[in-house]
Amino acid sequence: MKVFVAGATGALGQQLVPQLVARGHEVVGMTSKQEKADLVRSLGARPVVADALDPDAVAQAVAQAEPEAIAHELTALAGAIDLRNFEKTFALTNRLRTEGTDHLLAAGRAVGVKRFVAQSFAGWPFARTGGMIKTEDDPLDNTPPDAIRTTLEAIRYLEESVTGASWTEGIALRYGGFYGPHTSLGNPEGEQLEMIRKRKLPVVGNGEGIWSLIHIEDAAGATVAALENGGRGVYNIVDDEPAPAKEFLPAAAELLGARKPMRVPRWLGRLLAGEVAVVMMTEVRGASNAKAKRELGWQLRYPSWRQGFVKGLG
Ligand SMILES: NC(=O)c1ccc[n+]([C@@H]2O[C@H](COP(=O)([O-])OP(=O)(O)OC[C@H]3O[C@@H](n4cnc5c(N)ncnc54)[C@H](OP(=O)(O)O)[C@@H]3O)[C@@H](O)[C@H]2O)c1
Repeated sequence: MKVFVAGATGALGQQLVPQLVARGHEVVGMTSKQEKADLVRSLGARPVVADALDPDAVAQAVAQAEPEAIAHELTALAGAIDLRNFEKTFALTNRLRTEGTDHLLAAGRAVGVKRFVAQSFAGWPFARTGGMIKTEDDPLDNTPPDAIRTTLEAIRYLEESVTGASWTEGIALRYGGFYGPHTSLGNPEGEQLEMIRKRKLPVVGNGEGIWSLIHIEDAAGATVAALENGGRGVYNIVDDEPAPAKEFLPAAAELLGARKPMRVPRWLGRLLAGEVAVVMMTEVRGASNAKAKRELGWQLRYPSWRQGFVKGLG
């Protein structure tokens, strides 16, 4: 199959492209930067340079590639995620999830792609009511904190546009929090990993927010499966062990040989890191991967972050 990967140079793209090539697929990898063309080539793909926010450039790149499937893995999240300025941190990503999705869908429709797989997120977008582990049938948050409203709207827009595209098999993959090579929870440069090592990531309040993680290699594996045989809809791409922050952070610290994280009360967490950080620590929901395993035939190399943190940080 010929696959067009938008975001070939990102943390996910760098795992996805080689896995597709190893499965015998032909890959065209998009980057916005000429200087990253060699990176795309080294992953085994043919590079194409285009700005995802330029509809004509995207249309031309896709038309020339003539792919049978498109993977939309565009984000702009390099650098620290500032939870105090969440919407500002996600502003460009939100454009990639709205305008960028429109442009790729239009370009894919023009060449008649059979599948269109796009990146979404499992975690804070879920409604913060009811059970702590969500399936694909559970609703997204209709009353999100103001500080994440626009970002959630962009996620909802992406999911609805992609799964609503009746002319193709539109699939949204809700990945858990990435860890592993080239992520912020990966060696050697991962910022969040450093924060755990240096005890700068305390457990806030009751620490009962559930975190669902996924090793970046397994996220790519699920994406390959979705590109090859996924049916229209959304899928949670998370590992088998969603864990409360109060369990995950001390266990991760121990696995990394660091001291236990500090605990701070909710009011102090809000003062130090803002409302979104408190929500992430106390209210977010985790996700079940049963549908993705059942329907995509997806198998995880790291079923739990416990093994992944020992063997898979890179
Ligand atoms: N589920 C999750 O936890 C999750 C999801 C996404 C990201 N993250 C985290 O965010 C951090 C950064 O992610 P990342 O390394 O993937 O980098 P990134 O800066 O978010 O970029 C991702 C991809 O989007 C492409 N892109 C961005 N803007 C573009 C544009 N205007 N036109 C064309 N392509 C564009 C980039 O290509 P070029 O730069 O080559 O143009 C790159 O291939 C990592 O720590 C990662 O783990 C986490």
